[in-house]
Amino acid sequence: MTTYTPALVNSTQEAEMAHYVDTLDYPFCHDVSKYEKIVKVGQGTFGEVHKARDRRNKSKFVALKKVLMDNEKEGFPITALREVRILQLLEHENIVNLIEICRSKSSQLAKHSASFYLVFDFAEHDLAGLLSNFKVKFSLGEIKSVMKQMFNGLYYIHANKIIHRDMKAANVLITKKGTLKLADFGLARAFSLERNGKPNRYTNRVVTLWYRPPELLLGERNYGPSVDLWGAGCIMAEMWTRSPIMQGSTEQHQLKLIAQLCGAINPTAWPGVEKLQLYNTMEWPKEARRRVKDRLRPYVKDQGACDLIDKLLLLDPSQRPDADAALMHDFFWTDPMPCSLEKMLAGHTTSMFEYLASGRGGGGQAAAQAAAHAQATAKPGEQSSNANRGGQRNEGFKDMVY
Ligand SMILES: Nc1ncnc2c1ncn2[C@@H]1O[C@H](COP(=O)(O)OP(=O)(O)OP(=O)(O)O)[C@@H](O)[C@H]1O
Ligand SMILES: [Mg+2]
Repeated sequence: MTTYTPALVNSTQEAEMAHYVDTLDYPFCHDVSKYEKIVKVGQGTFGEVHKARDRRNKSKFVALKKVLMDNEKEGFPITALREVRILQLLEHENIVNLIEICRSKSSQLAKHSASFYLVFDFAEHDLAGLLSNFKVKFSLGEIKSVMKQMFNGLYYIHANKIIHRDMKAANVLITKKGTLKLADFGLARAFSLERNGKPNRYTNRVVTLWYRPPELLLGERNYGPSVDLWGAGCIMAEMWTRSPIMQGSTEQHQLKLIAQLCGAINPTAWPGVEKLQLYNTMEWPKEARRRVKDRLRPYVKDQGACDLIDKLLLLDPSQRPDADAALMHDFFWTDPMPCSLEKMLAGHTTSMFEYLASGRGGGGQAAAQAAAHAQATAKPGEQSSNANRGGQRNEGFKDMVY
């Protein structure tokens, strides 16, 4: 795809580019009108997501994720390009399937410019939506199934040298058959081992604040797949607590919450932490005792589960289990064994998404956006106020499960 250097772009070139995009005949890029939009199910940082139906095959449902082009004077946004490249590489039962990229032409009449859409197989729920609905009750075997599939997905992407970097319940999709799909590869990237002894210098401004591991909060740039295991630990605890376990409002506050739960951040618990850029500038309780198991036990009655969460939430990233080790944990190999969610989900006839669950009041999406999105999806650097996705929500979802 053509990219334009910002310094060279002027209004004439912008108009030329718009004309070029509009008049180009894309042999491999269908018009999005082949799908009929049904309902909006998500509002991400990078665009909105609609449930849609294939006009030629009415039983086929897809998710259309619009690529935000608004501020793009440089052509197709690099973030979306990265997401597409990574999704094209990945093919696994527990990873969302990208079907194709579609486009829409600009319309002088409706005053909108050309857009692109990522078209995915549709999943009926996301985990944040399911956890927000207290009528959805997971048995221990069902929780094991969710976590097992999550680690299977992580094992696969990490084996393919991809880090997700935005693990959170809203980015975990669940189909009505109970199959889990890791979604939202908008922040994902390829990783490599240190080359010639030179450490990697990745950005640490990734992962939604509440799920961000301590190494990123302390400025580490040479991190690896273990950042996703921290996120998986937060999500696993949430399977019982039903709302995110550490809802910081700033990076400093997030570190404080981590220290209160996981114990003082110091070289005894985490050798080498003193070398991290922000170690001496951030403040947190210096004497705090680790109390992950104590704090979670009232919710997480299963001992194996408590033990696995405790390990995933280890401060030192090198001590966290990788996805393979997590799958080998006793939790998955003691009764009750993982069991399908299909039957339980069949009892719920409405789709559950974070976007539709938040805001309440008859599914008022504007409120959903203002309340939940601004906070639960606060990207690095943003300050999020203390919203609570948990709340007392349990109804008000708009969309039907077909
Ligand atoms: N294939 C799909 N099927 C059903 N719903 C989906 C699908 N893909 C995404 N969604 C819904 O849309 C929401 C936003 O999508 P996604 O996370 O990919 O966008 P995003 O802009 O990167 O989001 P954010 O930046 O807020 O994390 C998801 O949380 C989910 O609820
Ligand atoms: Mg997302």
